[in-house]
Amino acid sequence: MSTTKQFETILFEVQEGIGYLTINRPDKLNALNQTVLSELGELLTSLHKDSQGCRGLILTGAGERAFIAGADIAAMASMSKEEAREFGRLGQEVSERFEQLGLPTIAAVSGFALGGGCEMAMACDMIFADQSAVFGQPEVKLGLIPGFGGTQRLPRLVGRGVARELIYTGRNMAATEAKDIGLVVKLLSSRDELMAAAKSTIRAMIKCSPLAISEAKMAINDGSDVSLSEGLNIELDRFVTIFQSDEMVEGTTAFLEKRKPSF
Ligand code: COA
Repeated sequence: MSTTKQFETILFEVQEGIGYLTINRPDKLNALNQTVLSELGELLTSLHKDSQGCRGLILTGAGERAFIAGADIAAMASMSKEEAREFGRLGQEVSERFEQLGLPTIAAVSGFALGGGCEMAMACDMIFADQSAVFGQPEVKLGLIPGFGGTQRLPRLVGRGVARELIYTGRNMAATEAKDIGLVVKLLSSRDELMAAAKSTIRAMIKCSPLAISEAKMAINDGSDVSLSEGLNIELDRFVTIFQSDEMVEGTTAFLEKRKPSF
């Protein structure tokens, strides 16, 4: 089954349970302006309410050159402080909606993932990349700092020292380095292989209990910034929540009956 919804700057389509979300401003290297962020917010809010048959989501950028080359510099150049606060808040809200989506999400990065692009990728559950991918938080070169979560998510993902070096120099980082520091989970040689790997990973997830994946995701998210003992309590609550759910009954029964579960 395939469903589509029309937006001005993003494309969204569900095929065989996989949602393909594409930032579609290739002439501006998919830079994030107010319209892109608003449309992303609208789509993610609707997916929170109704998954539209989507069991996992792949985020990409249109065109050959970029995933997302950052927040829109032209738009930011003339913003007042109040407008900047609204813009930053919108970008942060979109990143949180990615994070809180009850579905697994993969950022499939080919080409530039700079500034807001790196930040949106980090808000996904995992980043896959091809050899053309370039990551970075170049904001200090523009007299800015990351505003869509970069100062918070990058240190949590790669450690504070590495994040500081990247953010304070604003330098670009090749895909191999991004893989070495643990930002990228899988590195593929071409865009075709990248999309194939993202699809096959989501397909493997689709065979598992969607409720269990969602609960595991929330346990990881909620437990990331608390003490180990608090984190273990969060895990225990989620572990108990799904006990005797239809999906747990199906999964355990199928195992005992030596058949594949149907989720
Ligand atoms: N915001 C707004 N427009 C952007 C953009 C951004 N973050 N990144 C690229 N673009 C636009 C360019 O202005 C250009 O538009 P134009 O054709 O109307 O002039 C178009 O996308 C193509 O980019 P261009 O710079 O000509 O390509 P390039 O191959 O020479 O360089 C980059 C590619 C990614 C190195 C370069 O575009 C760049 O440094 N972008 C900004 C990255 C950044 O600082 N992001 C963080 C923002 S806070």
